[in-house]
Amino acid sequence: MKKDELTKIYNSKLKELTNHNKLYYNKSKPIISDSQYDKLKYEILNLEKRYKFLKNKKSPNKAVGYKPSKSFEKYKHRVPMLSLSNAFNENDLVNFEKKIFNYLNKKIKFQYSVEPKIDGISASLTYKNKKLLYGVSRGDGLIGEVITENLKTIKDIPRQINMPNFPNEIEIRGEVFIKKKDFFKIKNEFANPRNAASGTLRQKDPNETKKIPLNFIAYTFGFIQNNQFKFQSEFLKELKKWGFKINKHNKILSNIKELISFHKKFEDNKFDIDYDVDGLVYKIDDLNLQNRLGYTSSAPRWAIAHKFSADNAITKIKNIEIQVGRTGALTPVAKVEPVNIGGVIVSNATLHNEDEIMRKDIRIGDFVKIERAGDVIPHVIEVDKSKRDKISEAFKFPSNCPSCGSKTIKEFNLTTKKYDAVRRCTNDGFECERIAIEKIKHFISKEALNIDGFGKKVVENFWNLKLIKKPQDIFKLDYDKIVSLDGWGELSVDNLKNSIENSKNVSLQRFIYSIGVRHIGIENSKLLADNLENILNFTKILKNQNFEKFLNIDGIGETQISSLKNFFSNKFNKDIVIELTSILNIKHEKINKSGILINKNFMFTGKLSGISRAEAKSLIEKNSGTTLSSVSKNLNYLVIGEKPTKHKVDQAKTLGVKVITQDELIKLLN
Ligand code: IVH
Repeated sequence: MKKDELTKIYNSKLKELTNHNKLYYNKSKPIISDSQYDKLKYEILNLEKRYKFLKNKKSPNKAVGYKPSKSFEKYKHRVPMLSLSNAFNENDLVNFEKKIFNYLNKKIKFQYSVEPKIDGISASLTYKNKKLLYGVSRGDGLIGEVITENLKTIKDIPRQINMPNFPNEIEIRGEVFIKKKDFFKIKNEFANPRNAASGTLRQKDPNETKKIPLNFIAYTFGFIQNNQFKFQSEFLKELKKWGFKINKHNKILSNIKELISFHKKFEDNKFDIDYDVDGLVYKIDDLNLQNRLGYTSSAPRWAIAHKFSADNAITKIKNIEIQVGRTGALTPVAKVEPVNIGGVIVSNATLHNEDEIMRKDIRIGDFVKIERAGDVIPHVIEVDKSKRDKISEAFKFPSNCPSCGSKTIKEFNLTTKKYDAVRRCTNDGFECERIAIEKIKHFISKEALNIDGFGKKVVENFWNLKLIKKPQDIFKLDYDKIVSLDGWGELSVDNLKNSIENSKNVSLQRFIYSIGVRHIGIENSKLLADNLENILNFTKILKNQNFEKFLNIDGIGETQISSLKNFFSNKFNKDIVIELTSILNIKHEKINKSGILINKNFMFTGKLSGISRAEAKSLIEKNSGTTLSSVSKNLNYLVIGEKPTKHKVDQAKTLGVKVITQDELIKLLN
């Protein structure tokens, strides 16, 4: 038989198999028997074996089952599963401690619980009345997927615990991973052990999960009823008594010097451990102190991951391309000769910005050392100037946007009194093609409208086909046309339609974030949404352009206000947002608050004693109160510390706002 005939047969069999996979895994409605299915799979694998040129990423040899996901039940984590901030050297650790001392307003001594950072997949296990009730994946940190049955196949996870002191209700968290020696046996199916663990864990059929030996090491809790534990290390010991595996390398250390020396020793020997470890986690051992320090929007203040040094390699820069981001930032990217760094083929490296290129004098044709750490985009460490071609010239950064030709500028930063390192396209609307595409990508992203099955590649594709030009076009797609496109079929279009329809119900916070105004990130969008309470209030402010109203919100400043003004002074931007408000069903998600400071607003003036502003603010918020940044009639309490600003106190008194001391605030909190 001829090559193309074989390919045709092979592809049609693959298509058939993919359809059965969908029916089986996604819809749980198989229409052929298991043995018929196995026969089909066998035929495909056999063809591949005989004719080496037959290759496809959908081959059962590569893909395990059909991409699961969509049909797992979603689960809102009782306590978010956040990530950790990273440290790469001693200086980062010193800064980490500095921030802690600032937050606590004094320097204190504490111990660290030191734990290996296993490079796997985190999972959460909820036990009720001593039985494993839910097993959930991390998901986006707020919402995970219920994968209880899959987790139950892991022998390290107890399904029932009969110890008398095991809490009635507890959520235990830890890492699911695969050992190096087990990964070795299936290494053709996955890029690395982490992907192997993740793929296996998210199989629709727990029998598939069972086939691959996964492990679980427990390291923290999300929630404990009647928590009596005082130390992280104490909790870890108890986990072991209850029958969980904990890491045998866990340790208690007392200061940065000890951390550094342990880190070095561990890194030198990390290859002796039979699973991937990408650093050490340092957690303040004292749980009470952890509780005081709390979290930023993405990570705890009381813990840090000290990463091992990244892998690097030498390669040659073939070209420097300029990418244009959503906010107009011009990012230079080096296209390099593909090189293998720690098992991953790298062909792009970020050069960050114009200043970075100048500082390191990076040129096309240069030999450079490139570093790659975890999922971070590889970057250039240094240039080997000895290998440089004599006729090479310094790189000229374009003064016009490579996408739309507009002028580019470096903004002057009023806070730092310096020009930004980043050069930007001055076109802030949708007239710049690259900016427009990036804006749409932001609109559909996970933290924004989160449209399942509508990824970045789909945006690029639909843009090129002129199916979308603005975010709202997503809600007017021509599905008849899409069905006939390469890579799309009835089922996938059906799924897309559904997820687009679902995404129309969106919280005010997500909506504000999705607009993509510079300086209005997740955290600020939440502040604005809490203040606005409904979309009507937002459109009113839009129409009247009186964004100054937001200055009252603690956390929103001149930078945000001027960015909002700038964005909405563009009629195109404004029209898009107005049109979206008529398409979407935007509701403010109020968190059920029940603390004693509910509906009470506070503001501080003067220096507090024994506690930082940040901690005082978070104490108020923990009790459902709000903090404001200026005195107005909306304010309930002005809290005065040492040397308060006189006119603020006077103003408060005139407006009838209660003026209280720090001690009185503590009394309110009881
Ligand atoms: S504690 C809020 N402890 O690292 C802090 N995490 O970047 C919660 N990880 O998603 C995490 N080993 O998957 C913690 N001993 C350890 C860990 C660990 C690995 C992973 C985990 C988490 C990620 C955070």
